[in-house]
Formats: sequence, C-alpha cells, structure tokens
Amino acid sequence: MTLLSQNQAGRAGDSCLPRHVAVIMDGNGRWAQRRGLPRTAGHRAGAENFRAVATACKELGIEHLTVYAFSTENWKRPKAEVDAILALLEQYLRESVETMARDRIRLRFLGDTAVLPPRLRALIAETDGLTRRIEGFQANVCLNYGGRAELLHAAQAFTRDCMEGKASPDNLTEAAFSGYLWSAGLPDPELLIRTGGELRLSNFLLWQCAYSEFYVTDTLWPDFGRDELDRALDWYRTRDRRFGGLSTKK
Ligand code: IPE
Ligand code: IPE
Ligand code: MG
Repeated sequence: MTLLSQNQAGRAGDSCLPRHVAVIMDGNGRWAQRRGLPRTAGHRAGAENFRAVATACKELGIEHLTVYAFSTENWKRPKAEVDAILALLEQYLRESVETMARDRIRLRFLGDTAVLPPRLRALIAETDGLTRRIEGFQANVCLNYGGRAELLHAAQAFTRDCMEGKASPDNLTEAAFSGYLWSAGLPDPELLIRTGGELRLSNFLLWQCAYSEFYVTDTLWPDFGRDELDRALDWYRTRDRRFGGLSTKK
C-alpha cells in the first residue's frame, strides 16, 4: 500500500489500521555492540528512530503510539548506562520541545516520573504543557514505567477514593479502573510490536495488552524502519481478532 492510500484509509476509519500501536523498543545495546560501539551509541540511534517511527505513524493516520523507553527494572543496569540513558532523554526532550509542537505531535509521559532527576522532570512538564492542546496524533513515552507499578498505583488511588467516599468497590468496572491507570483515556493498543526478538512482555502495559496482537521481530530497534512498520501493519490486517468469541471471517 502506498503512503497516500494508507493515509486515506486511516482517515476514512479503516478498521484494519490500528488506532493505537505500542512498541517495546528493544535491542539498542546489541545494535551498538555489533558495530563495536558503546551501548550508549545504540540508545542514541534508538532515540533517533523513535522520531522517525512517530512521524511515520502520524502520516499513516494512527492516533496513538506508545513506546517503552525506560522500565522500572532498567535501574538494575550499571549506573553509567542509566545515567547515559537519562542524559539522552533529557537531550532528546530539549530538542523535541519545539519540533514536536511544530510537527503537531502531542507527547505524553506514562510512569512514575516523580523520582526522575529534576531537570528531566522540568522538561517533561514543559513538553507536556507545550503539546497538551495538540489534537490528532499522540506519542506516549513510558518512562520509569512498569505494568505492575501502574496497577499498584491505580489500586492505591482507587482505595483512597473509596476512603474519601468518592468511589465504591461494589461499583468498580473495568472501564472505571482503567481511569486510574497512567494510561487513563487511551484506547487499548490493538497492536503490540517488540523488536529485538524476545518473546516476553517485560512488564509492559499488562492491563492494556490483554487482547493486543503481538508482533515480534528480530530486527533491533534502531534498524526498525518504515518497511518493517508496514510489514507489522500488514501482518495485523491478517489477524482474526476473536476476543474469546468465534471467527467472523469465512
Ligand atoms: C532497549 O534496548 C532500551 C532500553 C531498555 C532502555 P536494550 O538496551 O535493552 O538493548 P539490548 O536488549 O541489550 O540489545
Ligand atoms: C524492555 O527491554 C524495556 C524497554 C525497552 C525500555 P529490556 O531489555 O529491559 O527487557 P528484558 O530485560 O530483556 O526483559
Ligand atoms: Mg533489552
């Protein structure tokens, strides 16, 4: 499919185009190591690729792209690597503040950002403020994100509301609980992509991916380009999404 026809299909409400694509951007370290470069070089290339993939998703008419940038488990890495990743994120956000607003991309952050370094927190708040009113395409960046941490955080918030008389356990629905998650307001991802070949969720979007189609590729994240995105979307179109029911396909 050409870019133009994809675009038109997306805007015309092509039910075969996911509204929300989630990506576990894995393989930066291996990408660098295979080139004899420090792992940090892979993270830099990965950040560049995020920009390219976000732009492609926007052009295709996808509404939401949610990416796993730093997990609650990634703190276990050597301090030098963690510091380098956080410094890169800071640099990336500083560069993005203007371009994202210009390119009409809303950036939202999911995760426990309160414990991140103050300069990074300030940039997150600035980016959020600058792009908040942008409608259309939204990129959600999961930073210090863990699916279990998100569920715990939601359970705490819900319990607090119950204690204050604002909510009741008897009336809790799945939709209402979703509203307590960091992802409140986002549709569930129809398609989850993992680069780098691992067949696991690594604590990503545990609640939201209950029925996502899972596309895993050995391609390392910095090499995941437009062709591979098209391949993942084509594969998604072939899926028979039954949600526990029976096939509606002949
Ligand atoms: C993913 O790439 C990026 C982060 C987890 C921050 P990795 O750094 O995990 O790369 P590999 O899996 O070691 O190749
Ligand atoms: C998942 O990748 C986290 C991110 C992409 C941010 P990891 O490299 O941390 O996952 P594991 O350790 O292989 O499960
Ligand atoms: Mg990895």
